[in-house]
Amino acid sequence: MKAVVAGASGGIGQPLSLLLKACPLLDELSLYDVVNTPGVTADLSHISSPAKISGYLPADDGIAKAFKDADVVVIPAGIPRKPGMTRDDLFKINAGIVQGLIKASAQYCPKAFILVISNPVNSTVPIAAETLKAEGVFDPKRLMGVTTLDVVRAETFVQSLTGERDPAKTVIPVIGGHSGETIVPLFSLAKPSVNIPADKLDALTNRVQFGGDEVVKAKDGAGSATLSMAYAGYRFTEKLIKAVKGEANIVEPSYVYLPGVPGGDAIAKETGCDYFSVPVTLGPSGVEKVENIVPNANEYEKKLLQAAYTGLKGNIEKGIEFVKNPP
Ligand code: NAI
Repeated sequence: MKAVVAGASGGIGQPLSLLLKACPLLDELSLYDVVNTPGVTADLSHISSPAKISGYLPADDGIAKAFKDADVVVIPAGIPRKPGMTRDDLFKINAGIVQGLIKASAQYCPKAFILVISNPVNSTVPIAAETLKAEGVFDPKRLMGVTTLDVVRAETFVQSLTGERDPAKTVIPVIGGHSGETIVPLFSLAKPSVNIPADKLDALTNRVQFGGDEVVKAKDGAGSATLSMAYAGYRFTEKLIKAVKGEANIVEPSYVYLPGVPGGDAIAKETGCDYFSVPVTLGPSGVEKVENIVPNANEYEKKLLQAAYTGLKGNIEKGIEFVKNPP
């Protein structure tokens, strides 16, 4: 099992690479970035875990060597937000970065599972899909946008109301997209169920939707969530690897191309969106099936979903246009 991290020297890339280096499920870890991979790789190489580590820069065909025969490609490359920026403001720079890395995946590891972290995820995943289509290697079951941080935040923020010692024991589906009001936490479907007082629900929902802003503000110009994102990115990657290795019943929300995955058509029809984050059952071929929980949302959540659909459609269209009619 070989994983490659593209953007490995960054704020997310470094702690994510640390967690992956320590992961006993990996045989090989390859780090790619346009800067600093020799240092990050040398440092992590002293950790006594099974994964063999190697690092590459663009020189000497580094991208080909880094991606060659990878089973999993994780992409946290690109610029992060500064105060006052939305994730959509990142589009101009990150769209091209993601497209380039997806082309490398298509060329050097066409069967890899691709996990996109780079923002705006609502648009970078459609860019990835269109690029893979153009390269003739698109398998929708193998392309996933990482929205796990929204799930992690929902679990964490609701803890004060549940009193549960371990926040991750409360499973909260968070669906839609990965920015502001396209993020829709479905607290009414929490398992075990949670009782959220009516006067606390707006604030809690808003905190999950805009939780990233708290970090952007606190970092005061030095970037956005990196450590919590590395944790979330690792959690999703580890679940995928376990599922690929045959572990059953692994479910985690992820942003996927609905018409291409089992169970997706019904959700696409209901939401009017071809890309959507929904609980995904992961298996040896990636997305085994998706679950349509949209009809189970309560009235409050259905209103939130309406706003999410509108925002998402524009973001998706923008990503598709970027590939079909390059600027
Ligand atoms: P960062 O600036 O610290 O790191 C980005 C890294 O990407 C840098 O090391 C840079 O050299 C590298 N890079 C740039 N162009 C590259 C290329 N063509 N090939 C390979 N590497 C390249 O940024 P940070 O904080 O790590 O964030 C990375 C991305 O993740 C941003 O787009 C950010 O918005 C996004 N993000 C996504 C989240 C999610 O929930 N999906 C949460 C938080 C951030």
